Amino acid sequence: FEVTWDASAAEKGGWSSFMAKEVSEEPEAVANTLRGRIRDGAVAIPELDGLDDLFRGVQRIIVIAAGTAAYAGMVGKYALEQWARVPVDVELAHEFHYRDPVIGPDTLVVSISQSGETMDTLMAVKFARERGAKTLSICNTQGATIPRESDAIVYTHAGPEVAVASTKAFVAQITALYLLALHIGAVRGELSPTEVAHQLLELEAVPEKIQHILDHEQERIEQFAHWMADTRSVLFLGRHAGYPIALEGALKLKEISYIHAEGFAAGELKHGPIALIEPGQPVFVIVPSPREAPVLHSKVVSNIREIHARGARVIAIAEEGDAAVLPISDEVLRIPLADPLFGPILAVVPLHIFAMGLATAKGLDVDQPRNLAKSVTVE
Ligand code: G6P
Repeated sequence: FEVTWDASAAEKGGWSSFMAKEVSEEPEAVANTLRGRIRDGAVAIPELDGLDDLFRGVQRIIVIAAGTAAYAGMVGKYALEQWARVPVDVELAHEFHYRDPVIGPDTLVVSISQSGETMDTLMAVKFARERGAKTLSICNTQGATIPRESDAIVYTHAGPEVAVASTKAFVAQITALYLLALHIGAVRGELSPTEVAHQLLELEAVPEKIQHILDHEQERIEQFAHWMADTRSVLFLGRHAGYPIALEGALKLKEISYIHAEGFAAGELKHGPIALIEPGQPVFVIVPSPREAPVLHSKVVSNIREIHARGARVIAIAEEGDAAVLPISDEVLRIPLADPLFGPILAVVPLHIFAMGLATAKGLDVDQPRNLAKSVTVE
């Protein structure tokens, strides 16, 4: 009798891939990033103690990151501007570094990196410090280089991420950015304690809502991805904080299924991308909540009408109960009710599942896509 031991299978804990395991851990990644950081309806992050003067005086925030982390940063921009009322720019680390950005002591540079080792991001952080800016790092890896080179650190607690394509780290990064935005908003007096407490309750509800999607939609999305295995090109549309989610959906599909995919701001459709729409073209559309964001919702619904009329195969990611999308969509993937800032954290989950399902249907290695590395430590 011989016991065979596959270390890698054991680490995957019964999942078919690390990515499958990590997507299943998205609820926990959010919950663990929040754990111990909310007290009496306020943000309580010990790592941010002593930074109130910095947060009060800051004139501008620049978020720097690469890949998926940069899309988390773009989502964070909506929250930081809405809650903290500080102008925010999101920059790809490599672009930021090699131009001549206007930064100084009243600029807060927030870097985001799962690994904490991405060379482009590290170089940009060092450069920002040399120029006199304050630096804060959002990182998933304890003791990594980028947090060590930063003035302050907020760790995401997503747990180790092994699959090259980032999933649970992404939702944890958004969570950390939201905590930061609420904290800065409170310190600057832009948000009342009641408002902060209300938004924190919304944030605390996210893990359960993600779990709901995994429990109720995952199988259907995987089945759907299977049918789509021969697709050659997929487009993604989103508006407001749904726009970076569209970019993330497209990136994930490129990374692991090698299918041409592009994300667009839905409002930009008429300025070019609509020319790509031909009968049968699959288009994912992230639809904001009709109840929480009626104006955004009606804009996106009219975008769907435009592409539906031209024969696109519309896959709507819409709130449960949103009936407006039904007559103009070929497929509707449901997410629980959430306001426009929280909906996108939910909407990304079906996109992660879809990319994974499609790559699996094509027989590809979802954990180790060709030509990519988990952590790019060269410039
Ligand atoms: C690589 C990975 C991406 C990741 C990016 C940033 O390109 O393949 O999945 O989003 O690096 O990584 P970081 O560790 O800085 O978040």
